[in-house]
Amino acid sequence: MPRPSEVTVIEVGPRDGFQAEREFIPTAAKIQLINQLVEAGLPEIEFSSFVSPRAVPQLADAAEVFSSIDRSKGTRFSALVPNAKGAARAAEAGIDEIRVFLSASDSHNRKNVNRSVEESLQGFEEVMAVAREAGLPVSGAIATAFGCPFEGDVPVGQVGNVAKRYSELGMVGVSLGDTTGMATPPLVAERCRYLREHVPGLEVTLHFHNTRGLGLVNVMAGLDEGVERYEASFAGLGGCPFAAGATGNICTEDLVYMLHEMGIETGVDLEKLCGAARAIEKVLGRSLPGQVMKAGPRLKLYPMDEVQTAVG
Ligand code: COA
Ligand code: ZN
Repeated sequence: MPRPSEVTVIEVGPRDGFQAEREFIPTAAKIQLINQLVEAGLPEIEFSSFVSPRAVPQLADAAEVFSSIDRSKGTRFSALVPNAKGAARAAEAGIDEIRVFLSASDSHNRKNVNRSVEESLQGFEEVMAVAREAGLPVSGAIATAFGCPFEGDVPVGQVGNVAKRYSELGMVGVSLGDTTGMATPPLVAERCRYLREHVPGLEVTLHFHNTRGLGLVNVMAGLDEGVERYEASFAGLGGCPFAAGATGNICTEDLVYMLHEMGIETGVDLEKLCGAARAIEKVLGRSLPGQVMKAGPRLKLYPMDEVQTAVG
């Protein structure tokens, strides 16, 4: 497959990142950070989840956040929704797209949403009905799509079957989530090819975590399969609270930097994005994994007289 010349970068830090923080990030700070991401030109932002506030208290303010974010730039705002109740809350808030989610492996699905994969799928029929009524498109995420921390390998057919059901339910796309960083380039190629062959017409998005350092390498594997959509978190925030050993998403600035250096357009302003990444570091009061926000772009030049000359 030819590599795409343009890629859609989907910012998921305000959801995948904020949900994993121990401390509740104040609503006003969330709004300000999301507005910085909008300003940086990100075309799509997964800004929160309409899940049970008892399960994920960090995102209990989803509707409040949405009511105050900058919608003047045409950014597409989506949120995770686990059931019809979440879909109704999302529709009432007026978001642009609902994203349902389940895990390809039963054990992680039970940890995450307290039901089997089949039960989740059946529940999505109700979600689709609510979304249709509200005129909202629905896409579906598949967590543990490259491996499960409780079960190990996840057969590609298991991922394919869920994607097929998503397609039959009328969803517009599928996002393969590497919840605990178990993806490798051959697994990425295998899964992308399988979906292309068995579920054509369902738009594929890839969602990697950098848990084992292969995040951007996996993006390269996705690009080689022609995949045009990648999810990432600014500053490399992220991690699932219901998966052992989960760590940060691939970092949005580092991804955008790589794509631009490859001549692939994203429409994102890297400098402004780095500003948002530094701002979340300040809010959280700690250093985060993003690298380009610290090092700057490769052609950043340093005055020679500020650097010590080696002697001896
Ligand atoms: N929004 C708000 N409240 C919700 C809700 C939603 N989408 N879904 C359920 N609830 C409430 C119910 O009203 C009920 O409240 P009550 O006890 O006051 O009556 C309570 O939550 C339990 O509802 P139930 O349907 O029995 O859910 P559950 O306890 O089996 O939990 C989920 C299932 C899916 C709601 C819960 O596990 C969840 O929200 N998980 C999200 C996990 C997540 O976001 N993971 C990270 C993403 S990878
Ligand atoms: Zn994730």
